[in-house]
Amino acid sequence: MYILAFESSCDETSASVVLREGERFYVKSNIIASQVDTHRLYGGVVPEIASRAHIEAISSITYEALEVAGVTLKDIDLVAVTSNPGLIGALLVGVNFAKALAVSNGIPLVAVDHIKGHIASAFLLDGEQPKPPFIALAASGGHTAIYRMNSYTDISLLGTTRDDAIGESFDKIGRMIGIPYPAGKGFDELSKQGFIKATGDSENFYEKYKKSDAYKDREMVLPTPALKDGSLDFSFSGLKTAAINLLHRYEQTGREIDKELFAARYTYEAVEAVALKIAMAIEENPGCDLVIAGGVAANSHLRKRLAQVAKDRGIKIFIPPLSLCGDNGAMIAASGYYEYEKGNFADSSLNASAYDSVV
Ligand code: KG4
Ligand code: ZN
Repeated sequence: MYILAFESSCDETSASVVLREGERFYVKSNIIASQVDTHRLYGGVVPEIASRAHIEAISSITYEALEVAGVTLKDIDLVAVTSNPGLIGALLVGVNFAKALAVSNGIPLVAVDHIKGHIASAFLLDGEQPKPPFIALAASGGHTAIYRMNSYTDISLLGTTRDDAIGESFDKIGRMIGIPYPAGKGFDELSKQGFIKATGDSENFYEKYKKSDAYKDREMVLPTPALKDGSLDFSFSGLKTAAINLLHRYEQTGREIDKELFAARYTYEAVEAVALKIAMAIEENPGCDLVIAGGVAANSHLRKRLAQVAKDRGIKIFIPPLSLCGDNGAMIAASGYYEYEKGNFADSSLNASAYDSVV
């Protein structure tokens, strides 16, 4: 069957055609119209501008998705759309477009939770795919949470951030050290230079970092975002505030901070906190493999570190390719397929919601 899926929860409009055949998904097209260049001027996503840009993009990318996939609307068996969480005005564009298309063409419609969508990107992997139950990390601009997928559709929250998300913190701190929005990728690269500078090793820099003199630098000490209360929760606002204070301290005393070493330290604390909580989640959920998903799952240090955590505990880790980590329609198609299988259909009364459905 062919699934046409839409994603418009933040600053990317995406339409994708995915074929489900046998036990596998085949991504026939995954068109993404990114608005980052527009929002970069403001240093972050402007919701009103995002909604308008979705409206401008959605029709043409739908035609493009169908054309690239070599199908027409007549071939589509299912329409899937992100209904929550996200920016409400942005979500409404996708939801209304998908609803109109499905209803007017008599195609079944399913609503997809954005986070379940990110996790479902692992079902698009070539080769082996995760089988529920498994643990999933969703790390993005709006989320830093650990879930348990009990089945392909049933999800439980194990731990989450009590304030800021990891991606948002990379974006904010990145902006302060001159990396344009969204800063995650630039932060990743700058950190790598910092790790290499600290260790003098261009291969095993992350592993060696803790023993380096740079790590011992008392001026660069930052707190861990891993809450020490036995929960699987995080708090990134403390790390963010401490980093802002650190940058101000340098500025006020007329010293220039080494941005590479600073970025490395920040990344290290963020990644180690996630690694610690993922290790705990693995211990608490025997028999579960691990999936990592969301925009921040593109972080090279996080990918490598969590692969090590999984290996040390003898479990499998499933990491989507970089092209499927950010927001895209194909992941919504995969998640939508399982909602369809479960009979969770939506109709013309479908509404969007800014909030998480998994709490
Ligand atoms: O999942 P996503 O595309 O959108 C949301 O649902 O939020 O995630 C976007 C986030 C941004 O904060 C961006 O800076 C971050 O993912 N990001 C990264 C990297 N690539 C994107 N963060 C760290 N390292 C990266 N390589
Ligand atoms: Zn996302």
